[in-house]
Amino acid sequence: MGYKNLKFPEGSKFLVTGGAGFIGSNLCEAILDLGYEVRCLDDLSTGKQANVDLFKDRKGYTFIKGDIKDLETCMKACEGMDFVLHQAAWGSVPRSIEMPLFYDRNNITGTLNMMEAARQKGIKKFVYASSSSVYGDHPVLPKVEGQEGNLLSPYALTKRVTEEYGKLYHKLYGLDTYALRYFNVFGRRQDPDGAYAAVIPKFLKMLINGETPTINGDGKQSRDFTYIDNVIEANLKACLADTEAAGNAFNIAYGGREYLIDIYYDLCKALNIEREPNFGPDRPGDIKHSNADISKARRLLGYDPDYDFSRGIELAINWYKENL
Ligand SMILES: NC(=O)c1ccc[n+]([C@@H]2O[C@H](COP(=O)([O-])OP(=O)(O)OC[C@H]3O[C@@H](n4cnc5c(N)ncnc54)[C@H](O)[C@@H]3O)[C@@H](O)[C@H]2O)c1
Repeated sequence: MGYKNLKFPEGSKFLVTGGAGFIGSNLCEAILDLGYEVRCLDDLSTGKQANVDLFKDRKGYTFIKGDIKDLETCMKACEGMDFVLHQAAWGSVPRSIEMPLFYDRNNITGTLNMMEAARQKGIKKFVYASSSSVYGDHPVLPKVEGQEGNLLSPYALTKRVTEEYGKLYHKLYGLDTYALRYFNVFGRRQDPDGAYAAVIPKFLKMLINGETPTINGDGKQSRDFTYIDNVIEANLKACLADTEAAGNAFNIAYGGREYLIDIYYDLCKALNIEREPNFGPDRPGDIKHSNADISKARRLLGYDPDYDFSRGIELAINWYKENL
């Protein structure tokens, strides 16, 4: 259970791309806490300097400011590393619909550069962030690996293409790649600001500041909201997984189903606020329901998530109350 007792070979070194972002900075922290070295590569395009400053005095932490669109930067970053946890990408379905060319270069070419650098530098395990958006419009619930529908956004396409590259890099070059399809991750340090912010930190900040959040659609959409510590566990366990599991994609979620409207009222209740939300139009590229079957990750990675939604949201609310 969890990741806090996991053991890697003595002196193991991890490269975390996107380490100045939400998920990446949490991975950096977890690796440092386990006592291993971590190098963070980030161009600070959506990440924060504050997420680098947090660790700059900790033994074993180094930061490279650089862009994964540049192969040389990726090669330098992979030098001397054992494991790569590749998180760097631009998120947000609606933003990708506004700027498909940038998403192609940043998320696809950037990831291909990282895989190529990992191959040339003899990286042991290449674990990388995919997304539940690869399921597109496939109607079956829960989502199962192998049953994907038509894609609904350039963002989803970037994730599907990089999964194909991951499969190919394993087959052709023997690089052990593991694609982790995250389902709506939430928790400490997720950015609450901006037009493309994720719903939980955005609502929390607005409610705490006395503002009224707007729910896109009727609020009856459901998601498998996944607490950050479950995602850390999946990444670290993938680094310890058998080669037989490589070249595969895995759902990383809790396996629950939460409705947006219920989350809104749960947040209000936890903050002692009585306020009705505003309702706005549906967001383009969004699907109505999404929840995950996580049996493949359980079976092949030993993934056994500790945090259900209610436990995770309580921790997240407490963190935002103290840190906003
Ligand atoms: N948060 C979620 O719910 C969620 C769900 C599914 C998938 N994902 C994926 O997980 C990964 C991490 O997401 P996050 O929520 O932490 O986002 P984030 O924006 O907080 O972090 C992404 C980080 O990548 C960096 N980055 C982006 N482009 C880069 C480039 N060209 N070179 C170097 N660094 C670059 C950014 O500066 C940022 O620090 C992404 O690949 C995202 O697509 C996230």
